[in-house]
Order: sequence, then structure tokens, then C-alpha cells
Amino acid sequence: MSVLNGKKILLGVSGGIAAYKTASLVRLFIKAGAHVQVIMTPASKDFVTPLTLSTLSKNPVYSSFFNEEDQDAVWNNHVDLALWADLMIIAPATANTLSKMVTGNSDNLLIATYLSAKCPVYFAPAMDLDMYKHPSTLSGFNTLKQFGNLMIPAENGELASGLSGEGRMAEPENIVSFLEADLESKLPLKGKKILVTAGPTYEAIDPVRFIGNHSSGKMGFDIAKAAANLGASVILITGPTHLKVENSLIKVINVVSAQEMYDACHLNFDDADVAIAAAAVADYKPKFVAVQKIKKAADEFSIELEKTKDILSSLGKIKKNQFLIGFALETENEIENAKLKIQKKNLDLIVLNSLQDKGAGFQYQTNKVTFIDKEFKIEPMDLKSKESVAVDILNKVIGHFYE
Ligand code: CTP
Repeated sequence: MSVLNGKKILLGVSGGIAAYKTASLVRLFIKAGAHVQVIMTPASKDFVTPLTLSTLSKNPVYSSFFNEEDQDAVWNNHVDLALWADLMIIAPATANTLSKMVTGNSDNLLIATYLSAKCPVYFAPAMDLDMYKHPSTLSGFNTLKQFGNLMIPAENGELASGLSGEGRMAEPENIVSFLEADLESKLPLKGKKILVTAGPTYEAIDPVRFIGNHSSGKMGFDIAKAAANLGASVILITGPTHLKVENSLIKVINVVSAQEMYDACHLNFDDADVAIAAAAVADYKPKFVAVQKIKKAADEFSIELEKTKDILSSLGKIKKNQFLIGFALETENEIENAKLKIQKKNLDLIVLNSLQDKGAGFQYQTNKVTFIDKEFKIEPMDLKSKESVAVDILNKVIGHFYE
């Protein structure tokens, strides 16, 4: 999934021949899952039609402070547009528009919006090779970079003038790659390794039977996805589940039993920065696993169980700098039991689920949790989707690294 997925992109188009390429650029943004709004300078409408960009962006296109054709002359609020955006990109950025960005000459909606933007602003220059090299252009680039804007350099090639050289607007694919790489490099968990356990474990009784539980694995998978979206590389160690995940940042290790999960966790814990134990690990397993299928014979039958190894506890014992997060599912004396677990397992944070809360638990898409940290600070959260709970958990991780 592209890092642009869900991002609100404001595209400013100025009047150069490269404006025709913004049709492809908008399409690529939409394909990446972004929301796009387009502002055009009046001159750019000679190169690409507002209808084209409006159709592709699925949004109205703005080019003036009010809609001339509209009898009520609706005001196009540049401040609202600027505040809506997660990022703004001006492509093509002509010499004229660049000079207005430098001086703050806001005689059109695009520049007024640019001056109002609080989000990161990128610009992709496009002009003839001599214009591109002109000292005023170069000093403009420097000034804009000092303002904090990010330049997507022009490329070399044939120019509209017939000359060949540097000045072509970067190809739409390259603009998208530039934005993706830049955004990825700034993700808050970039470079962090996060180990996540998920799902149930199955403890074999004989070759065809096991002791298991109803955990769907969803909470752990949502945590893994949220961590990857924040740039972390994730080791997802999961018991049997139907869930699938396709993300180059998530390495899935499938296990079946508590012992296999224990082994996989210990193999991957040493260089982890964070471990989040969301798995519903069996607490007991059959002491003896029958080699052959057990035949029904006696009227009564019992299985002797023994404790599984507590993975989280063991990680708590060997942890160095790892930020260790556990879950607790409690039905009574929730807070007290959870606090005891923090101490017993040497955790930094516990995510407490109470089965007394409606909508929380194994079979639901939602969860209601309370965070308790190792200083016993208690933070009850609202009932939310498991995706949102995952984001809350990762926000705690970010808080640990940055506060
Ligand atoms: N856990 C684990 N290994 C186990 C059992 C539990 O890593 N063998 C982890 C779970 O993934 C969870 C946390 O420990 O993050 C709490 O599990 P829970 O079953 O609620 O608590 P227990 O410590 O097993 O205690 P009890 O069942 O008595 O409440």
C-alpha cells in the first residue's frame, strides 16, 4: 500500500506545457488511494482543461477566488483549501509561479492558498533550459528551499522549445515516487523493528484434535498493519487464523502451538525495539500428545494438562531496551489484576480488555481498552474499531520514542 493512501493532496497547476501531464499525475494519486483537489492558475487552463482534472480528481477544480459563472458568486476559500491538505504540490511550477511563491505576490488563488498552507509543500519546476539555469531562478529555488518547501528537480530531455536539456517537469511516476520516498523517510517509526504476536495457539491432543480458542487474530494483524503504515518493519508471529496481510514491511511467521510461538518470539526479540503481545496464547497444553488418534472407549475421559511457557513473561525477563506491551483480558478486579501483570511480566504498558464492556473481545470488530503504564497511569479509551485501537497503541509507542 502506498504511503499516499488516504492522504489529502492539494495539486496546484500553473501555466506551462507540462500542465498536460497533471492528468496522469492526478490519476496516479487517485490510484495510490489519495484524495485530490486541484487549483489551477488562469494561464494553466490553456494547457489542460479544468473538466479533465475535475473528472480525474472526482472533485471540483478551483481557479479563481469566486466562481464567475455562479450567480451567487461562491467564494473559494483559499484558507480552507490549504488547511484541508496533508500535502501541497505545485506541478508544473513555472518561472512565473515560482517567483510569486518567492515574493508572496498572491494575485491568484493558487498563490494565496500556497501562502496559507501549513502542510509540507513540494514544487516540480518546468521551464526551458536557459530559464532553469538563470540566476534568478536558481536563487528562487534556494529561497523556496529555505522556506522549507521541497523541490522535485526537473529532468533532462527534449523541451517544448525544441531544445534539449534540463527543465522538463519530472515525469508523473517520478513525482509520485519522490513524494512516497520523502513521506516514508519521515514516518515516525521508520527504522524501528516491532515484534507482534497474534491469533490463538492450538495445543495438540492427538494428530487430529487440539485445544484452542476463538481469537480471530484481528487485533494483532491490525497492530501489525498500523505499525507498518508508520514505517516500522514488523515481525508478525501468528497462530492459526484466516487473516492475510500483504505488506513488504510485514514479515509473517506462522506458528501453531505456544511453544512454536515462544521459539519464534525469542529468535526475533533481540534486535526488536518494541514487542506487542496480542496473541491469545493457550495457558495449558496436554501433557502427553497421543501419537495415534484417540479412540472413544471409556465413558469418561480426561486429559492431563500442563502449563505452557509464558512468552511475555519470558520476554520481560530478558528485555534490554525493548518497549514491551502486553494485553490482559479480565473479568473481575480488572485494574488490580492488570497492574499485577505489569509487575509480574515486567511490562511497559498493558492494554486491558474487560469482558464486562459491551462490544469488546474475541468475536467483535470493536474493542474497548484501558491503557495502564508501568507508573500505573490509567487511561480508559472509548469503544472503537480494532483498527483505531491499533492506532492508539502505536501512538503510545511513538510517545515512548519521542516524548
Ligand atoms: N501471554 C503470553 N504467553 C502465554 C500466555 C499469555 O505471551 N503463555 C501474553 C498474552 O499474549 C497477553 C498477556 O500475556 O499479552 C496476558 O495474557 P492473559 O491470558 O490475560 O494473562 P495470563 O498472564 O495468562 O494470566 P491469567 O490467564 O491468569 O489472567
